[in-house]
Amino acid sequence: MIRLRQVSRAYRESSGARARALEGFSLDLAAGTMTAITGPSGCGKSTLLHLLGALDQPDEGTVEVAGVALHSASEAQRTRYRRETVGIVFQFFHLLPGLTLLENVSLPLVLAGVGRGAARARGGELLSLAGLEEKGGRLPHEVSGGELQRAAVARALVHRPRLLLADEPTGNLDSANAARVMALFQEVHRSGLATIVVVTHSAEIAAQIPGRLAMADGGLAPGGAAH
Ligand SMILES: Nc1ncnc2c1ncn2[C@@H]1O[C@H](COP(=O)(O)OP(=O)(O)OP(=O)(O)O)[C@@H](O)[C@H]1O
Ligand SMILES: [Mg+2]
Repeated sequence: MIRLRQVSRAYRESSGARARALEGFSLDLAAGTMTAITGPSGCGKSTLLHLLGALDQPDEGTVEVAGVALHSASEAQRTRYRRETVGIVFQFFHLLPGLTLLENVSLPLVLAGVGRGAARARGGELLSLAGLEEKGGRLPHEVSGGELQRAAVARALVHRPRLLLADEPTGNLDSANAARVMALFQEVHRSGLATIVVVTHSAEIAAQIPGRLAMADGGLAPGGAAH
């Protein structure tokens, strides 16, 4: 499902220096697996998720997901991949402030061309699964951080993506809400329909996930591919 070979990505800082985020990074993850990625701040975890989500491109190396060569795909192919194949829960949610929770959660379907009524129905279903059935009409600034995070998870799952990427999805949640988010992921995992990659700083969360991958400074930690 996921195949990275010798991927490097560096950012140019405003000072002009280059910050190496990933260096010669290779990775294979089979379809239907659920993997936790851990590692210290700044080691390249979010950079990796951005590459897998076709939000960024490598400077060197190849990134293949679900049969799409993302490093060489056209912008149209990448847009289509983002809309159809992948669901992303960002480290900082990125819900649209002017849309209600229900509109936010339904948006991926609307963008994919699903009719408004069907999109809202499916969006409502996901909000219920996330325990937010009462909050669909509220704007993002009218709900709590934990509710926002669960809405972001609902939005990432609404179009049944084959790949679910989550960056610290439980980072700001109390243990009850974290358990709720994990239960949603486990349900998707059990359905066998999606490959799931979760970046987390929490050892407790990582312990609940079957596959584990430890990163360190732009690559795999020594012995990090403990699958
Ligand atoms: N836009 C950017 N410009 C310059 N450097 C960047 C940029 N984005 C990331 N970096 C650098 O690339 C490296 C990897 O960043 P990344 O965001 O992937 O880390 P991370 O493992 O997700 O960290 P965290 O756990 O803190 O979220 C870091 O050294 C970071 O400072
Ligand atoms: Mg990060």
